Amino acid sequence: MVIKDIAFRKFISEKKIQEKVRLLGEQLNEDYIDKSPVFLPVLNGSFMFASDLMKEVSISCQVSFVKTASYSGLQSTGQLKTLIGLEQSLFGQHIILVEDIVDTGLTLQKIIEELRNLGTKSVEVVSLLRKKPARDKGIEVKYVGFDIESEFVVGYGLDYDGLGRNLKDIYKQAVD
Ligand code: IMP
Repeated sequence: MVIKDIAFRKFISEKKIQEKVRLLGEQLNEDYIDKSPVFLPVLNGSFMFASDLMKEVSISCQVSFVKTASYSGLQSTGQLKTLIGLEQSLFGQHIILVEDIVDTGLTLQKIIEELRNLGTKSVEVVSLLRKKPARDKGIEVKYVGFDIESEFVVGYGLDYDGLGRNLKDIYKQAVD
């Protein structure tokens, strides 16, 4: 399969993804029973994962979508991102960030710190994919679907230059 100028091949099938999502949901149901957590899927990439995951979560919970954006104005560093779109107070709440993929984990660490500063009771992360740099750096991701190398992937919410988010399976760059 080709997207723009790059060839991709199937990497993780829809079936494997769905099995993993079910397991992650079961684990969260156990760990968060009686805690009524707030799930915060980080858009855009996590929309498909979050939708499937939430169908497997049967405990009492809330779901609220957030995004990250670069600082603007005087604080701008070009790299650091901040959380936007929070619509409710998260004070005293158990938070579960829902991510598509953690690569360097830099953005994630910043978000976790921001959420802790809001007086949340706990902050954990569930990510469908985790790349090697995040593992090497010991970025805190309690719930991981698949550990992968540093390869570039698309599909199931993940994009290459805006394309490919709609694919049911996950593809990786084909090396020939
Ligand atoms: P990090 O801050 O380096 O962990 O970057 C994480 C974000 O980069 C993810 O939420 C994705 O939006 C994007 N990203 C990282 N790796 C990939 C990839 O292989 N395919 C598509 N997007 C990616």
